[in-house]
Amino acid sequence: MERTFLMIKPDGVQRGLIGEIVSRFERKGLKLVAAKFMRVSEELAEKHYAEHVGKDFYPPLIRFITSGPVFAMVWEGDNAVALTRAMIGKTNAVEAAPGTIRSDYAVHTNFNLIHGSDSPENAEREIANFFRPEELVDYELTI
Ligand code: CMP
Repeated sequence: MERTFLMIKPDGVQRGLIGEIVSRFERKGLKLVAAKFMRVSEELAEKHYAEHVGKDFYPPLIRFITSGPVFAMVWEGDNAVALTRAMIGKTNAVEAAPGTIRSDYAVHTNFNLIHGSDSPENAEREIANFFRPEELVDYELTI
């Protein structure tokens, strides 16, 4: 079983899309393991986006992700990383396939509504950045 880290960004929160986005993952059959409505500090933003340091979009990215609350989540399921990335769509909304979250709701690469881990290894690192181990809820889906 695989886990992934998903974060509805400040634009998704501002546009009232938390419920819509969460419900897509619920309906898919993935299991919600943790969720937190929170502000991202500068320190956490820099840790989360460390791989993008030096790129031209890095400063606006840090400003944006710290600009308002986000909805951070951990989801679990077979191939959770690849499945959720397929449902989210490509980073650039213009290239996102129809029916994906970014195709349906986003216009701009900088305001693309949601972050999803790109590998199981990065997922574990990102989950550890945002959640303490005891915040992950251990339960079975029984229906
Ligand atoms: P995210 O999946 O959160 O990871 C890095 C973010 O940087 C990305 O989504 C976009 O919101 C933002 N970004 C802006 N420009 C680019 C770009 N040219 N390539 C990748 N990411 C970009």
